[in-house]
Amino acid sequence: MPPARPSEPDRVSSRIPPPFPADTSLELSATEMERLVLHAMKRIVAHVDSLPAQRAADTEGAAPLSRALIEREAPETGTPAEELLDLLFDQAIPKSFNAASPGYLAYIPGGGLFPSAVAELVAAATNRYTGVFAAAPLLVQLETNVVRWFARLAGLPEGAGGFFSSGGSLANFSAIVAARRDRLPENFLPGVLYASDQVHHCVSKAAVLAGFPARSVREIPSDEAFRIRLDLLERSVVEDRQKGLSPFLVVGNAGTTNTGAVDDLAALAGFCERERLWFHVDAAYGGFFLLTERGKRTMAGIERADSIVLDPHKGLFLPYGSGCLLVRDAATLRRAHAAGGVYLPGMQSDPDFVDFCEISPELSRPYRGLAAWLPLKMHGLGPFRRNLDEKLDLALYAAHELERRGDVEIVAPPQLSLLAFRFAPKGLGEPALETRNRRILDAVNARGRVHLTATTTKGKSLLRICVLSFRTHRDRIDAALEDLAAAAREAAAG
Ligand SMILES: Cc1ncc(COP(=O)(O)O)c(C=O)c1O
Repeated sequence: MPPARPSEPDRVSSRIPPPFPADTSLELSATEMERLVLHAMKRIVAHVDSLPAQRAADTEGAAPLSRALIEREAPETGTPAEELLDLLFDQAIPKSFNAASPGYLAYIPGGGLFPSAVAELVAAATNRYTGVFAAAPLLVQLETNVVRWFARLAGLPEGAGGFFSSGGSLANFSAIVAARRDRLPENFLPGVLYASDQVHHCVSKAAVLAGFPARSVREIPSDEAFRIRLDLLERSVVEDRQKGLSPFLVVGNAGTTNTGAVDDLAALAGFCERERLWFHVDAAYGGFFLLTERGKRTMAGIERADSIVLDPHKGLFLPYGSGCLLVRDAATLRRAHAAGGVYLPGMQSDPDFVDFCEISPELSRPYRGLAAWLPLKMHGLGPFRRNLDEKLDLALYAAHELERRGDVEIVAPPQLSLLAFRFAPKGLGEPALETRNRRILDAVNARGRVHLTATTTKGKSLLRICVLSFRTHRDRIDAALEDLAAAAREAAAG
């Protein structure tokens, strides 16, 4: 039967609308743009300028306030920007973990370099398309430069490649996919991955997202310094091969989130080379300490990795939304991610030029690299290196001062800028120790000068201090030590 002709009302010619007015209400005039930016900038600058005086975290009463903000319907008409910015700056922003504050020593601190915020405004306001080289060649080139600087910093050879992701989780995901495509056949289910029991949970999550059952991730026990036990790793690989499985990937830690541990990366590199396994390093927290001599020594062997994750939104102090995956051989990323579309412009064959859509999961993407490029070009590497050295010193100083007290067990001395410890007065058993340390943590955080977090590992409840913000200096570590001492006295008094 021939296809039915569209009935009269469906013909395009019958749907041409009558003349209609252009709606320009989304187009701000130059004066309106300037007024909006200046107003926002005034609020931003006042906020950032007052960070040292702000609480390091404040989420008290946040649940009812959040509930009061629930709006079921999107508004049909507008509200003046000033009112909306007031809502953000007066209500929403203060009720947060203040990750940009100098007192934020929790989890892995952020920071948020101001020039990066300006870069993000420029990137969004000019809104260029950087998923393909052809659409914004010079901008893509600037971002590619930054990736190459990072690869050089990590000691990877010419021919290395990489891209900016939204963070470490997605960078770890792409690393696993690249390793899977490089080392396993299409039927990859017998593949097995190895990491220590200290690995960040995003690695196991990434393995599952990459198609592996959770049981395919072997968590190898760590030693008393929280580093992967190489003897147990070797044994596990042998046993898996005997079972007919296909070991293909080992993840080394360059700074764990729990205790800041750095695995013996040189030994892991040697093992992976001998066993022909892909060697991936999760350096999301520790990676940028490669800018320092001590960091280079601690992470020796990282330059032999097949892939490395760095998080500029951690060790380079950028605002959230900036991870980076580096690979030793750029072709491995392309093999894992390239996929054509007839509607796309031509991709680059010149090795100097990169199409990010060919080597990463995204097509459309924010122009992420600018947030790193602008501060790196404005300041040069020197201030970053000095800041990171200062953080290494501050963590050592905190550990030394705590150890001197006599009632503190430094369970994980800083290998980089993170230490884990607990108050362990004589005579207290495990459950009482946990309660005592929890009370100390709550009391320190209630003071608001610093914000710390806890963790549990190897059966011990620990307190952590992670120094990573460019705004954190000796005065804030002294405040942390004072508040810990006061909280410990109160807790001992009952
Ligand atoms: C060691 C490590 N790896 C990976 C991640 C995940 O990175 P992101 O939060 O940027 O996704 C983190 C986050 O803190 C981390 O500390």
